[in-house]
Amino acid sequence: MPVRVGVIGSANMDLIAHTDLVPVAGQNVVGRDFRMVPGGKGANQAVAAARLGAHVTFIGKVGADAFGEALLANLKAEGVDVGLVEITPVVATGTALIVVDRSGQSALTICPGANSNLLPEDLDEINDVIEGLDVLIMQLEIPMETVLRGIAMGRELNVRTVVDAGPPRGQPPAEFFNVSILSPNQAEAAALIGRPITNLGDAEAAAAEFMKRGAESVVIKLGEQGALMATPQGMRHFGAQKVKVVDTTGAGDAFTAALAVFVTEGLALPGAVHMANIAGALATTRPGAQPAMPTRKEIIAFKGHA
Ligand code: RIB
Repeated sequence: MPVRVGVIGSANMDLIAHTDLVPVAGQNVVGRDFRMVPGGKGANQAVAAARLGAHVTFIGKVGADAFGEALLANLKAEGVDVGLVEITPVVATGTALIVVDRSGQSALTICPGANSNLLPEDLDEINDVIEGLDVLIMQLEIPMETVLRGIAMGRELNVRTVVDAGPPRGQPPAEFFNVSILSPNQAEAAALIGRPITNLGDAEAAAAEFMKRGAESVVIKLGEQGALMATPQGMRHFGAQKVKVVDTTGAGDAFTAALAVFVTEGLALPGAVHMANIAGALATTRPGAQPAMPTRKEIIAFKGHA
């Protein structure tokens, strides 16, 4: 039986330009190409989990516009249940303006639009749906109060919660850490703890602090440095997988979704982190977010050859 995954989060239309370098204020650069690709951390994680064979319900909001229509059509085509997505006539669908440089690194400007209208009371209305999930995944492109309500519902209803702390949002209230797995990247972990994280030692200290505040375990995504797993039993560092990077957009989303799916399927956390590390690496080898999400077959094939 596929695991039942709920993703509470954002859906954005990503408007992506590939350039030689990301411009700074006042600078003009010429792009090599432009693409419009479905994105948004929540929707990306929903697609990534569906490609791993999970039964995925996406909970979010889009505007009553062409971008919203296209995002829903894509989620449906990926097999994601969008029955709980509200189409709101008052705000536009979220958008992300993304510039990707030659090395595959990206700079993003997010206009949240309808994502900001996903409120705690929207979750109260679907208490029974959340109760029926095996795992609930959230990120921070929706209001913090909504994420906090999701975390509280996960606790009350005994549903595992996996929280991706992106994008960096500063220091959250204490109840934010009441999660099964907290999975920030380096910048997000620094924002949560309120000090820079520049090396593995800093990441270990931050992970220990997050567990002290309530997280059952912590997995910090370190990009080219791999990932750090922290549990009450200890810490373990996983090296990065070697791939040819084309575009890093959505790599963290592929990681979070794989972590949530594999651990919920019953893999021990180190095994799930290994699979997540591969999923994140594979997502960087293709352009865009949702189209780049790897399938279960691709992850297993890569694991066999690594
Ligand atoms: O994590 C990548 C995502 O962040 C992009 O798809 C973009 O929409 C932003 O939400």
